[in-house]
Amino acid sequence: MSEIYLFLIMFIRLTSCQSDFNYLAFVIQWPPTLCGYSGVHCKPTINRQRFTMHGVWPGNSTGHSLKCSLPPQHSEDYVKDVWEKDVDLAKLLHDHWPTFLLTNTDEAFWMHEWKVHGYCTKQTLPAADYFHGAMRIAAKTKGLLETVRNKFLTAGIFSQYDEAAYEMSNLQKSLGKTSKKIYISCTPKNNSFAYLKDIHFCMDKTMMSFVDCPAANLDTRGCGSIYKQRKIIVPLKSIV
Ligand SMILES: *[C@@H]1O[C@H](CO)[C@@H](O)[C@H](O)[C@H]1NC(C)=O
Ligand SMILES: *[C@@H]1O[C@H](CO)[C@@H](O)[C@H](O)[C@H]1NC(C)=O
Repeated sequence: MSEIYLFLIMFIRLTSCQSDFNYLAFVIQWPPTLCGYSGVHCKPTINRQRFTMHGVWPGNSTGHSLKCSLPPQHSEDYVKDVWEKDVDLAKLLHDHWPTFLLTNTDEAFWMHEWKVHGYCTKQTLPAADYFHGAMRIAAKTKGLLETVRNKFLTAGIFSQYDEAAYEMSNLQKSLGKTSKKIYISCTPKNNSFAYLKDIHFCMDKTMMSFVDCPAANLDTRGCGSIYKQRKIIVPLKSIV
């Protein structure tokens, strides 16, 4: 067997494994839920009552996030270059994509997200496009997320009172401005209630337009399944 033949097989394997995604999820998180996890220490300075970016995650046709293989060490340098050589981009990233973990830096958070999720998209979305695309979507969704946040505030939903819990379908409606199907992920409290954790907006592979998140009936995101949904609590303070 020739070396070229072996090389081709490896090449096909690598490419099919890394580009095999159907959509990109723009994932934003609700800090009070995460800051309430035991063992998680959040920076005291962050604005907790504001949605911020978690990451951009490629997913398959059944709504599962892909796990990327580990990128080669040298790739860290060219990924870092993306924000180190573009001051305006770095400013936007710090604003929309801050870490709230006490011992983490924003740069380490972006690098982590790129390694775990971004690397699988590199065929269609080089690192620079990945980060610029993320900021384009962050700008597009900013107004919507602020509106939703204010709506929660005026509805008194930001409370520890469970009667203020949202029905999943209502939450979906509040966020439905893109008129596309989204995912909501939760930290379960018990069989009937859960805390809002992340919201996923789905986009096409080039991060240019919103698409419906694929139908996914599995109870993988902690909010319950289509058969039995938990009521969603949006906490104002860190949950305990
Ligand atoms: C999507 O990914 C999940 C988890 O890795 C896997 O179980 C499922 O079979 C995949 N679906 C397709 C259609 O590839
Ligand atoms: C589940 O959590 C809710 C909200 O805190 C609470 O009212 C309810 O009693 C809990 N149910 C069980 C079975 O623990």
